[in-house]
Amino acid sequence: MNTYKEYLEIIKKAALKAGEIMLSADYDEVLGGIESKEGTANFVTEYDKKVQDFLFETLAASFPAAVFVGEEDDGSTADKIFNGLAFIIDPIDGTTNFIRNFCASTVSIALLCNGSPIVGVVYNPYSGDLYCATKGGGAFCNDKPIKTVKRPFSQSIVEFGTAPYYKGFLGDKTFALAKALFMSGADLRRSGSAALDLCTLASGKCDIFFEVVLSPWDYAASFLILAEAGGVMTDFYGNEPCFDKRCSILACSCKGISDQSIGIIEKLGFSAQDIVFDD
Ligand code: IPD
Repeated sequence: MNTYKEYLEIIKKAALKAGEIMLSADYDEVLGGIESKEGTANFVTEYDKKVQDFLFETLAASFPAAVFVGEEDDGSTADKIFNGLAFIIDPIDGTTNFIRNFCASTVSIALLCNGSPIVGVVYNPYSGDLYCATKGGGAFCNDKPIKTVKRPFSQSIVEFGTAPYYKGFLGDKTFALAKALFMSGADLRRSGSAALDLCTLASGKCDIFFEVVLSPWDYAASFLILAEAGGVMTDFYGNEPCFDKRCSILACSCKGISDQSIGIIEKLGFSAQDIVFDD
């Protein structure tokens, strides 16, 4: 067994247990403990914190030298991901779904080495689907290999996130791009969990995903899963996504679909300054 695979087994076990915590949620406790964060419709529950604490503690026992970056912490470790091992974790991706018991939320765990993802695990405890990848080792769902599917652009199913926390200044851009891709492709989908959308894309069920702003914990694990499944993830300008700060995300089944999507974004005239944040 190589090291990445050993790491993967430890992380998978932790993700499965984290999923049990989500499934055991007492909804009186969930609804009684909702706090609001930055922006609009941005929530955190006691369970986001419980799951994150569990993952940090469990994984630190096996990876004592690793740095931890999580959605529910203060962001102070983000600039330390470039030296050695670092975890980027979203304990519950799709918190709004979780609050409403909508059953489309995931645990997302990425392990990076010197700033680059080497293991990715995304677990949807409601469906039991566990997506994972190791660098150079392929991508899997429940131990079966997954691959993206190349279809003509006109047959593309486009998943998107609405960047709900920034709707006041990014809502128009989101829907302009959604409309342009809808008119050139086949149809649109929105699940409420970016990590889940990206794994659906990696499994060949959809063709394009975009969100005008996402945080690294939303896509770090899926970045590797998608890459190992044959897909491409960049920002809106074709650059590799940042793992230490927020950026726009465009993910596609293959390079050809990515190039065509970037062409559509260029025609809309989005400027990087409009959608990049100074974190
Ligand atoms: C959110 C989900 C959602 C996306 C938001 C993310 P969270 O993650 O991925 O689909 O539109 O931008 O922040 O906050 O529920 O972990």
